[in-house]
Formats: sequence, structure tokens, C-alpha cells
Amino acid sequence: MVETQLLAGKQGVDEAAALLRAGAVVGIPTETVYGLAADARNPQAVEKIFLAKGRPQDNPLIVHINDLKMLPLIVAEFPAKARQLAQAFWPGPLTMILPVAEGIAPQVTTGLGTVGVRMPAHPLARQIIQAAGMPLAAPSANRSGSPSPTTAQHVLQDMKGRIPLVVDGEDCLVGLESTVVSLVVAKGEPTLLLRPGFVTAEELEAVLQEPVKIAGTVEAPLPEGQRPESPGMKYRHYAPAATLTVLDGTLACFVAYVTQAAKKEPGLYVLCFEEEAQMMPVPAVTFGRGGDAASQANALFAALRRLDELHVKVAYVRLPNADGVGMAVRNRLLRAAGFRVIKL
Ligand code: TXA
Ligand code: MG
Repeated sequence: MVETQLLAGKQGVDEAAALLRAGAVVGIPTETVYGLAADARNPQAVEKIFLAKGRPQDNPLIVHINDLKMLPLIVAEFPAKARQLAQAFWPGPLTMILPVAEGIAPQVTTGLGTVGVRMPAHPLARQIIQAAGMPLAAPSANRSGSPSPTTAQHVLQDMKGRIPLVVDGEDCLVGLESTVVSLVVAKGEPTLLLRPGFVTAEELEAVLQEPVKIAGTVEAPLPEGQRPESPGMKYRHYAPAATLTVLDGTLACFVAYVTQAAKKEPGLYVLCFEEEAQMMPVPAVTFGRGGDAASQANALFAALRRLDELHVKVAYVRLPNADGVGMAVRNRLLRAAGFRVIKL
């Protein structure tokens, strides 16, 4: 057990930089979710991330930079499409998978030969990278399997006693992890969207001026025995302790189904949009407003954690549509439910 400090502002940045240079793991804010950061060049430091998270050793980490000058340290190539995307979306919530350079610790890439790289937009994240003077490997700062943290308090819930410092950068603006695209595809194949996020498929296509392919694992579980394009897709994610089921149908059908289910399953909850809560026949935890996917993204992980705080055992949620940022909200809900979907 270590004592976990919580610091904000310049104090947090300075302490984080000193700890990172000494090979420690630090909780840092980003605009997407909080990250668990370590020196991406230092194998011992990176191993501490896996230990603190309880993360499977075959799930690679994203490397964070604050300046394009750091790229040669991380990627072996930065093709024209990567340049276009960086210009449009960095700093911001987009991760690109590219061929890895030599200086990155093998634990970061888990031997894949590729690496995810992202330039975050949160001012404290950028100041920490700058002050530490190194690229930072950082997965989301949750214990493996639980919802990603969107507040410093969430990080403390999961990491207290496991890491020396959490830098408090207030609530994350986006609330869901970055969009992940792979530019390591066979010649002539389109850019592959591995994880939807705040940067949408439509926005990527507008910049690239060509279609983007959406990985099958965004909407469905990995078929038995198949090797994933992104190892993270194998694992159940973002999962509350409650058994969450996604219902695919109209609001009226949802209410009718839950009304019936409540007769057999006392204590059941629903996850729904704010304006729907009063129509629900059972207690509700809300996440954002209908028609406003950004507000849903922003509130979703806190809502999943809230289910746990309430010791909810069974919960239902309605499948949202997949337009724009909605694709990311829908993907996280499906994964939180382990792809358990009932068509109404
Ligand atoms: O917004 C974010 O991306 C946050 C913040 C902290 O930056 N980070 C984050 O990291 O979500 P993590 O480790 O929770 O998710 C990284 C995802 C995983 O699904 C992993 O499998 C995938 O990216 N990934 C990382 N490197 C990869 C690679 N070389 N090839 C394919 N997928 C990769
Ligand atoms: Mg994660």
C-alpha cells in the first residue's frame, strides 16, 4: 500500500513530472477519461500500470504526446492520412494505430509491432507530458473491467493505495475514451475504426475524403476463436456489478417490458435519459438527454458507477441509435451489458 496524494494545478503537474521521471505511475486527467500514466520508454514503469489496473498482459496501451516532435520516438512511419487526421483532430480525442518505433517499451505494444498514439487536449495532461519530457503510456485509470473514470474521485475509488498520485483536472469534458482508428491496414484497404468515440466516423470520412470501415466488434462480440484486431475487444468492459441488459425497441415497448420484468425481479433499475425518468415504472439512474449524444457520453460512466453504489443487481437500458457520437454511447452500453440484447 502506498499513500495516494490528490493534487491540482501546478503543484499536481510538478509532482507528477517528478514521479514519472522516477519511474512511478500517476493518475492524470485527459479530456476523454482519466489515464494511468507512466514513461512509455521504461519497461519497469509500464509494468506497474498493468499491476495497478490488474490488466491482462496482452492488452496494449496508448502513448500520449504533447508535440508532433515526439512522434519519431513512438512511430516508425507517419503517413499522409495520419497527418491529415492529426491536423484535423489533435490535440483531441483521437488515437491512431501506426507501426511502432524502437524506443517504446515492448510491454506498451504487447509485441504487436504497432502502437496507439494520441495528443490529448486537456491542459494539465499536456503540461504533465511537457514537464516530464517523455511520451506517456496511459490506459484508462480504472481497475480492469470496471467503468473508466471521468472524475478524480472515480480514480481514487479504484486506485487508492495502489499509486502515489492522482492529479485532479476536474470532470472530463468528453466522458468516453478516444476514438481509435488503425492506419495499419492492407494496401488499398480503408482506415479501420476500432473503437468509436467523440470523433465520429462521419467526421473521419469528411477529413479523409473516403469511407472508413467500422470493425465488426463495435456492434457485436468477437466471434469464438477469432483473433481481435484490437486486443481490448476481447474483454468485457465498462461493466457495472449489476447484470445489465439492453432492450432494442421503442420507448413504449421498453416501459411495458420493464413493468412486466419488475413483477419477477424486485429491486430492478433502469438506465434512461433524464426526461424519461418520470415515465419509468421502476427507479432510474439517468445519463444525459435524449437526442444529445454528447451529454449521454459525458454522463454514462458515472451512471454505471452509480448502479454499483446503489448495489443494483439487475438493470435494463434501451438501445440508443448509432448516429454520430451515439455510436460510441451504444458501443459502451453493449459492452457494459456483455452484448446481452433483447429485441422487443
Ligand atoms: O481516451 C483514451 O484513449 C484513454 C485516455 C487515458 O487517453 N485511454 C484509453 O486507454 O482508453 P485504454 O487502454 O483503456 O484503451 C486502449 C484501447 C484498447 O482497446 C487497446 O486494445 C487498444 O486501444 N489498442 C492499444 N494499442 C493498440 C494497438 N497497437 N493495436 C490495436 N489496438 C490497440
Ligand atoms: Mg480502458
